[in-house]
Amino acid sequence: MKLWFKIVLLNVTIVVSLGVLIGMAIRGTVIKSMRSELTRQGESISKNLSDRIADFILLDDFYKTQEAIEDVLDKEKDIEYIFVTDNKGYLFAHTFEKGYPPDLMRWNPMPVDKLLSIQLLDTEKGFVRDIGVRIFGSMNPELHVGIKEARINQTLSRIRNLIIILTIIVTIVGSVLSLSLSKLITRPLNTLVKFTHDMAKGEFGKNIEIKSRDEVGKLSQTFNNLSHELEAYRRKMEESYKQMLRTEKLTATGRLSAGLAHELKNPLTSLKILFHTLKNNPVLTQEDITITLLAVAQLDDLLTKFLRFTRSDEFNPSYIYINSIIQQVINLVQFQIKNQSINVSLELNRLPSVKADSAMIQQAIMNLVLNAIEAMPEGGTLAISSKAEDSHIFISVKNTGSGIPDDIKDKIFDPFFTTKGDGTGLGLFIVYNVINLHHGETSFESDGNGTTFNLKIPVST
Ligand SMILES: Nc1ncnc2c1ncn2[C@@H]1O[C@H](COP(=O)(O)OP(=O)(O)OP(=O)(O)O)[C@@H](O)[C@H]1O
Ligand SMILES: [Mg+2]
Repeated sequence: MKLWFKIVLLNVTIVVSLGVLIGMAIRGTVIKSMRSELTRQGESISKNLSDRIADFILLDDFYKTQEAIEDVLDKEKDIEYIFVTDNKGYLFAHTFEKGYPPDLMRWNPMPVDKLLSIQLLDTEKGFVRDIGVRIFGSMNPELHVGIKEARINQTLSRIRNLIIILTIIVTIVGSVLSLSLSKLITRPLNTLVKFTHDMAKGEFGKNIEIKSRDEVGKLSQTFNNLSHELEAYRRKMEESYKQMLRTEKLTATGRLSAGLAHELKNPLTSLKILFHTLKNNPVLTQEDITITLLAVAQLDDLLTKFLRFTRSDEFNPSYIYINSIIQQVINLVQFQIKNQSINVSLELNRLPSVKADSAMIQQAIMNLVLNAIEAMPEGGTLAISSKAEDSHIFISVKNTGSGIPDDIKDKIFDPFFTTKGDGTGLGLFIVYNVINLHHGETSFESDGNGTTFNLKIPVST
């Protein structure tokens, strides 16, 4: 849930809850005060009317009594009915237009010792407050005035409508205000979030514009510093990595050059013999031309591969086929393989192309292959396999050497760790870093029967 939405939601919840609470509090107070006001008003009407009709009752004057009670009913809006009982307790006069209700005398029966009795009645027309008074002190005749509570309900519904309208207005105004306020808060936060995303993608060295001196401003300053520090750190790492890459390349190049020199010798010897023959008999046969072209092609092929291996040290990803790189590495180490009577077993399955730095991958595989060869001075089997599975490419380089002793297993990837007199100890370190750079994983298994290095590279890096 977005922050601005949470703030607006909080605002709406507060306003609506306040509206409901205020409504409930006002409702209680209004009902109480209006009821006591109506009761007071009813009592005063009843007492006045009782004084007015006392003589008519004494004279048993039904018409004047009826006239007086109807007159009051007309004038007072809150009165539902009025009725009067005579000395015997019978109904004497009333204002019920459609005849009086049969249970009328049971609505608010007045105790003998009381001059005033109030009873709340729940009628079809809503709540009615029956106010009964004795017209002549302790004597029987009673006057009952029914005061309607409709006015309370009308007032309440008016108040309710007012509160609802006010709540809606406050909610809308509050939402708009809190929305702009939350935008004010979330805008710099969003910039900060975007900045951290960029940093997570490796875009260091950028700056966030600091517009405020609050917590977000301080945080932005911290992130700016962090971004610059990370940039400086990355530059340093890249520089030292490049340096190591160059050192390692030089070593590998040195070792390869022995093999290269041997390989170059074959075509050169063919050419030398041919030209010796030509010196005595300068006639070029078709066979001579074929031998020359073959020798030149061999030289060209060898030098191209060698140069490709020694050239690049920048990260230049392109779509590459790892099987052909494995093949190239094997070709480059042909001399060592033959020299040490090593059997090569290749199990290269169909692979998709991957976006990777061809020179770096070649160097990584080359380092593993060289290590494998160096681990089998008395010969053995070098088995290289590749396969694609679960959007990853798996490469394994296995040798049947004596294995890596347990006590150095956790050191072999450390830079400059070597057990060889002429080693730099950078081979596996480079492998690890190159594969890491391609978001892959490097692992190995080793025992007395040999060692297997496994590389796992995601197809889309
Ligand atoms: N396939 C292997 N079999 C046995 N030991 C190995 C194998 N690969 C690596 N090691 C051990 O790990 C050490 C580190 O290997 P790494 O390739 O990093 O350096 P190195 O081969 O000694 O030197 P460099 O590769 O720089 O010439 C080696 O010295 C060796 O002891
Ligand atoms: Mg090595």
